[in-house]
This record gives sequence, structure tokens and C-alpha cells, in this order.
Amino acid sequence: MTAHQKMDKPDTRNRLDDMRQGLVGKPMDRPDGPLKVSGQATYAHEWDIPDMVYGVLVRATISKGRVTNVASDEILADESVHAVITDDRLLRRPAQGGANEAPPQGSKQVDYFGQPIAVVVADTFEQARHSANILPISYDTEGNAAFDPEAPDTETDTPEDDQLDQGDLDQAMRDAAFTVDQVYRTPGHNSAAMEPHCAIASWEGDKLTLRGSYQMLNFNINELADALHIVRENIRMLSPFVGGGFGSKLGLSPEAVAAAIAAKEIGRPVCVALSRQQVFETTMRRSETRQHVRLACGEDGVLTGLGHECLVSNLPGEEFYEPVTQATHFLYGGQNRKLGIEVARVNRTCGGSVRAPGEAVGMQVLENAMDELAEAAGIDPVELRKRNIPERHPEEDIPYSSRRFTEALDEGAKLFGWDNRNRKPGAKREGDWLIGHGMAGAARVNILSEAKAKVTLLANGSAVVETDMTDIGTGTYAILTQIACDMLGLPANRVETRLGDTDFPAGPGSGGSWGASSSGSAVFLACEEIRKKLANKLGGKETDLTLADGKAGTGDKARPLAEILDGEEISAIGHIEPGKTLEDWQQATYGSYFAEVAVNAVTGETRVKRMIGVFGAGRILNEKTATSQCYGGMIWGIGSALTEELAFDNRDGHIVNHDLAEYHIPVNLDVPQIEVVLLKERDEWASPIQAKGIGELGICGAAAAVTNAIYNATGIRVREYPATLDKLLAGLPKE
Ligand code: MOS
Repeated sequence: MTAHQKMDKPDTRNRLDDMRQGLVGKPMDRPDGPLKVSGQATYAHEWDIPDMVYGVLVRATISKGRVTNVASDEILADESVHAVITDDRLLRRPAQGGANEAPPQGSKQVDYFGQPIAVVVADTFEQARHSANILPISYDTEGNAAFDPEAPDTETDTPEDDQLDQGDLDQAMRDAAFTVDQVYRTPGHNSAAMEPHCAIASWEGDKLTLRGSYQMLNFNINELADALHIVRENIRMLSPFVGGGFGSKLGLSPEAVAAAIAAKEIGRPVCVALSRQQVFETTMRRSETRQHVRLACGEDGVLTGLGHECLVSNLPGEEFYEPVTQATHFLYGGQNRKLGIEVARVNRTCGGSVRAPGEAVGMQVLENAMDELAEAAGIDPVELRKRNIPERHPEEDIPYSSRRFTEALDEGAKLFGWDNRNRKPGAKREGDWLIGHGMAGAARVNILSEAKAKVTLLANGSAVVETDMTDIGTGTYAILTQIACDMLGLPANRVETRLGDTDFPAGPGSGGSWGASSSGSAVFLACEEIRKKLANKLGGKETDLTLADGKAGTGDKARPLAEILDGEEISAIGHIEPGKTLEDWQQATYGSYFAEVAVNAVTGETRVKRMIGVFGAGRILNEKTATSQCYGGMIWGIGSALTEELAFDNRDGHIVNHDLAEYHIPVNLDVPQIEVVLLKERDEWASPIQAKGIGELGICGAAAAVTNAIYNATGIRVREYPATLDKLLAGLPKE
């Protein structure tokens, strides 16, 4: 039995507010937590598979050309080495999120330094790695590789449907009382998930089982089937635990196909794990950006014009580009608008989704520009933003769904003590430290994605939730359990949530912050169907049903579920689909950040002293896991502001800092105790459970609060991220 709902109209029922069990929203511990901290959760590399051997990817040491020969004879003479595979089905690039088909394949053509071109299989990982390292490869290089997105001879193109020219921005700039006209740059990022990518493939006849670390199994299985030229029905993918993804595991990546081909060829299970360096070089990078922002406003600070024109980069042939202006389209008004994206084609590691593609870097820069405008106009930065929140979408003239931007700004200002901030750049000093305060807005588009989940109420009165949806550290196990508990009136220990198995109904995957609201809605719908059947048994209406602590009733009398079920079990599949509410309303999540920094007046070192984030993202399903997502986003914001930067060598496009020793993500000492406040909100346009996505919201603009605070501390605007001390030293105020 399938319960289906398409979000063609708002769902005003708000049913989860009325459930007696009352777990939804609570800071419930993750059911998977004890397994993870005790080492019992099996991550991709941790399955104990008998007879398994190891494959290691061989990667290109040129940036453009062709492989002419792989001289495998010598390493194959070593009997511990089973195969050197150069199969045309190997992936040259990872698949983009949601691709649903194989990305470019082949082992001959090389488009970037570090591209996989072969896999060596041996008894142990060490033997395979050594053999891969000494394998002689010959190449023909081809001319015209491009490495620098801003070099004059680098080819660029402009995705047609991402260019907007409304009104006359040039005129608005000329007529404005105050303007900002600046170019900012943000560097590339790596997802740097804690768990490196890994896949273990094993075959039984024509049937492949692939244990991997992936975010979107429902798409990944089709990508794998397409890559291998087999049918989806012959594959089972398992990703029950994923040690972080941040976009790098949205699409199938090369290790999965390499493991599958190798395992078939040698007739034994094969494990292919990426080293940290390989993760940097062969999975997705976030594109660096150049962003030209123009803002025009009147004496009152109300925007009359807004320009955001961006240059990003990717490999030739990739459709994905960093959607930098995604939130710029709807966040602030200004009738004269010019927004655009240009894509430079470079021979660098594939560009793809990295946490909050678009807003992570777009909001970061837009919110710097708004800070500059606030200063130019002499208006409080909080007030300037509030004055520019439009009634309706400034380009599409549609209404907004729930939007608590004003409240987030006000609440953040109050909690931070914004009224007592330092008002004159460079004026507040504590010993050798210059103290500064900064703020920024947060915004991220909200998306609902098609999702299915199966819920079974067992005869003993406990329940099982099943979907191929993943938990990438976000808390999926917790929130799906909580929704089923409330809908079926069960305590947490009587609901078991099973995830990450393609034999289960197809979920939306973990990406774009849509996972919780989409698969949560599928579980909600399945449970609603089960409630109807229970109500039937009790001879009452579903809406009159009271369910709590394993007992059901329709009036005062409640009886144990097991008694009512009398040996039967009830199962249902919930199926949610996005509909008109996604098109006819602008759906997004909003927030604010406030930061206090100290910049050392001698060394230029920045320390973030305090940081507050206030967010509105619809119904919060689990206060603890939602808060943790915001912590993570804001910590990433600190990294983006101060240290994170992919460094490329423009002689061959290789990534210089391809490990966590050289690519500096924040460590404990870099992060103060962050305060996160989640506003109460219900969004009836977003999903039947009135929840929106929150996973990515916390990064969208966070870095700007830090760099705006650096300006307030020092009087120095850093427009080339990250704000490392070399960019501050020369301009630091003298005592
Ligand atoms: Mo997200 S970058 O869609 O995992």
C-alpha cells in the first residue's frame, strides 16, 4: 500500500505538533551513536569480506593528452599482483550529483593531473600501492591545456539560463546616493570528509554487491549500472554508514567502478580505497570564484541596483558550474539587476558540489559587499539588510514561503550585544589584539526531492523504517526514528531505522539539504497510512486516534498495539513528490551570523573569539543534530574565512596542498564555543512535515561575518579569500 502526496499546494495540517509521543524536535541522541563511538558501525572500508584483495588507482602525471602504453609485465611477474586493469569502462571523472548515468569513461584520454587511468590489484594494499607507484606509463601530451581560469587565453562559456539583465544597472549605479563596485575572489575547496572514499565489490555470478561510501544510492546505482553496462537489478549497493560527504560522495566516483571491474576480472572481492591525496585529486573540488559585485542604493539604503557577475571553472564538457548567484536572485531587492556566471574551461580536477554549492561562496561575498554598502551609507549593517528584504521575489514576482530573516537578524543582534559593538574600524584594542565585530545574513534555497520509505508496524508493536536514504553524519537515523515514533506512538527503542541499502525503497539521497524534509515526509506518509489501518481496526477515525507509549485508542481507552494487531503486521510505503509549491513560492532558509574576532596587531593572526548563528529552517526535527549541522557549517565558514584554500600549480594544474597537513581546515583551537539558535518556524509550502533543509544553511555567509569583523578590527578589507595574515600585515594600524 502506497500513500502518495505531491506538494502542489500548501499542507496546513501541522500534524506533528499534536502527536503525544512528542519526540520530534527534541535533542534525541543518535541511535547510531553508540555503534559509531564503539567502532561497530561498518564504514565502507571496514567490512570483513573473505578472500578479498586490494586495488589501488594509478593516476595520470600529465594534464592533457593520451596514455600510449601501460607496461604491466614487470609488476605482473610478482605473484602477489593479480591484475593491471586498463578498461574502457573506468571512470575518468566522478559523476555529478544526481547524474543518474555514467560520467566520462575510458583509460586513455587524460584531462587533468591525477586522473585515474588504471587499477592495480594485489594481495595487500601495500603491494598494490607499491606496484601502482612503479608502473611505467607512456603518454602523448597534447597542447593547449589551460590551468588558470583568469588567463586571457583560457576558453570560457556562459550557461544561457543563468544570465539575468533586468532594468539598467549601469544607470542605477550612476544615479545612486551610495555604491559598492568591487571584485572579490574565493579559492577552491575540497570537501575533506573524514572518511576517504572506498568501495568493496563482490560478485556472485552476475550479481554485484558494492559496499561504498555514497550520499545518493538511488542515483549511484544507476550510474554504476550504466558504467558497467549491466542492469540495475543486478546490483545491490550498501552505504549504511558514511563518514561525511559534503558533496564529494553525491555522484559515483572512480573507485567503485574500478573495484567492480577488478572483482569480476579476477573472480575475488576487491577493495579500492582512496588515499587522502587521491580524494583531493580525483573527487570533486569546489571551484574558485571571481565575483564582481555592484550595489546601488538611495540615501535611505534601499537598493536600486544589484550586480553579481561571476567567473568559475570546470573541466571541458562538464555541465555543472558553481551556482554562485543562487541566493542573490531572491534575497535582496533592487529592480535593476545584472547577475551572471561564466565558466572557464581548465584542466584541473573536476569541479562539483561542495557543501552548499552556490551560497557557500556567493553569500560569503554578497554579505561582504553589503557590509561595504552599510559603511558607505552610514547605516547599521543589520538595519541595511532589513530595509532590503523584498515583499515579493524581485525577478520572478512570486511570494516567499515562510521566511524568518528579519527575526534572525534581530535575535542575533540582541544575543550578541550588537548595540555595544565597536563602531570605528581599528579603534578597539586589548593589548596586542585588535578587536572587531561583524555580522552577515544567511540564506540557502530549499528543495524537496522525491522520496519513498517503507514503514512496518510489527505484530509485537514495534516498528521498522526502511529506505535507501543515507546518513552522512547528519542525523538521518535519528530524525526518521523520531518521526515514526511520534506518528505511531512508540518510544525510540521500539523503532528501528534501516538505511543505505538499494534493496529498500528509493530515498532522495543526502544532498542539497533536502534529505531530512524529503525522506522525513515519506516516513510521515507511510505512518499516516498505518494509522488509518489501525483506526479501522478500532472502528474510529484516523484523526481521532491517540497513540503513545505503544498503546492506541480513539477515546479514553488505550490498548497495547500488540493486542490490537493480534498477530498481524501492517506496512505501508510513503511517497512524497515535489510539486507546484516549489515553483510558485520562493522557498529558502534564512539566518544571521555575528562574530567577534581578535587580530594580532603584530603578526596579523586572526582568532575568532565568539560566534553566534540564528537560523530559521522550518520545523526542526532534532534540535541536537540540527544544531550540530549549524556548528559544522559555521566552522567551515571560519575555515573559508581564514585558512581553507586549494592551491594549484599553474604549470600542470596539479593540487599542491592535497592533504590535511597542507589544506588547513579549522582545528579545535581555531573554533570558539559557537552559539546556535534555531527559530520556531513551520513551512507549510515546503513539505507535509513543515520542515525545510538545514544541513547547508550554516555555511552560507558565515565567512563574511568573520571577514567583516576583521575589517572592523583593522580597517582592512580582504577581498581575496582566505584572510591569511600576509594579507593583513602591511595594512595593520600602527599604535
Ligand atoms: Mo551537498 S554539496 O549537495 O552534499
